[in-house]
Amino acid sequence: MEQLLISTYESLVRPALFRMDAEEAHHLGQNLLKSMGWIFDLSGRILGVSGLCGAGAQTYATFSLAGTTMKNPVGLAAGFDKNGTLVDSLASLGFGFVEIGSVTAKPSSGNAKPRLFRLPQDQALINRLGLNGDGAEAVADRLKSCQFPIPVGLNIAKTNLPDLSMEKAAEDIAFSFKTLMHLPFAYVVINTSCPNTHEGALFAGEELELILRAVSELNQGRLPVFLKISPDSPESFLEALCKLSRQYEIRGFVIGNTTVSRQSLKTNPKLLETIGNGGLSGAPLYANTCRLVKHFASSKAGYQEIIACGGINSAQAVKEMLALGASAVELYSALVYKGPFLIYTILKELKKEGFFSNQGA
Ligand SMILES: Cc1cc2nc3c(=O)[nH]c(=O)nc-3n(C[C@H](O)[C@H](O)[C@H](O)COP(=O)(O)O)c2cc1C
Repeated sequence: MEQLLISTYESLVRPALFRMDAEEAHHLGQNLLKSMGWIFDLSGRILGVSGLCGAGAQTYATFSLAGTTMKNPVGLAAGFDKNGTLVDSLASLGFGFVEIGSVTAKPSSGNAKPRLFRLPQDQALINRLGLNGDGAEAVADRLKSCQFPIPVGLNIAKTNLPDLSMEKAAEDIAFSFKTLMHLPFAYVVINTSCPNTHEGALFAGEELELILRAVSELNQGRLPVFLKISPDSPESFLEALCKLSRQYEIRGFVIGNTTVSRQSLKTNPKLLETIGNGGLSGAPLYANTCRLVKHFASSKAGYQEIIACGGINSAQAVKEMLALGASAVELYSALVYKGPFLIYTILKELKKEGFFSNQGA
């Protein structure tokens, strides 16, 4: 049954979507999800895994991330639901949790279009959206009376403006945090690793420290705060980051964001040149995600947790990441290539292998 669902998507739906502009296809997918969420819910029931997700009564297992219980450890990565418009519908895809954002203090239309590209030969995407979004106040207003059906994480980033650095950057991120911190988020991620802004991923120690100080003063230990790491970070930066994270009671790391690297791709280099700048996501990231998760698992503090993200697209990959030391995983690009039934098929496979019966109930 799961093969039938995936092959229907791959042979009928995906070719139609891939004939459209990638960003338009993304908006169409979002609208379909809003109006047809029940179909995905039903597929979970048909596959016999609905007890592993959503808010259903049947409990096979529980996972815990930053003190929040969830039915499965597979989450949606930031960027898919930047403005928190899909929180209700996303649970119907089977995710154990979702991360909304990146939300920025000020609304922004992002970079010029086209800014999202597919690399089918590599099962990858390149995006340079540039942190487009409605802004923190609009998102707070939208979510103020929303009952989250599954745990929701909030990802915040610095508004994409050229003159926003140091104290101004800290104020900007603190504004988003303050505007949204009263909502029932399971965790907050500070995204310091977007490659598509004026300055690219943030490596500067001093600015990061100002940001962490401002957020921690507001937070007073209330919400678990994670940092999202760039896979392009130099080793010395990662060491400094680990040290800083303990000082500011950072609960863990999302490892990681998209990469600016174009190494080892099957896609024609001429096409890559035509596409130009942007963050690469999807299957080519996987090996490096494994390397970084392993590295952080041995250098983080005991109380800190890892959310693995980058190239995850199968039950095998989920198991590998948890075995390497991650508490949970997130994915995005694999949804584009494998379709909306992916999470249910991953859960079915994990259940078949007895994965859930090993967890505490
Ligand atoms: C179109 C697109 C938009 C994204 N936007 C964001 C974002 O706003 N904030 C963020 O932290 N990560 C963003 N990401 C990065 C993803 O959250 C994730 O870290 C990355 O895609 C690697 O995971 P994947 O290989 O499963 O796609 C975006 C990714 C894509 C493909």
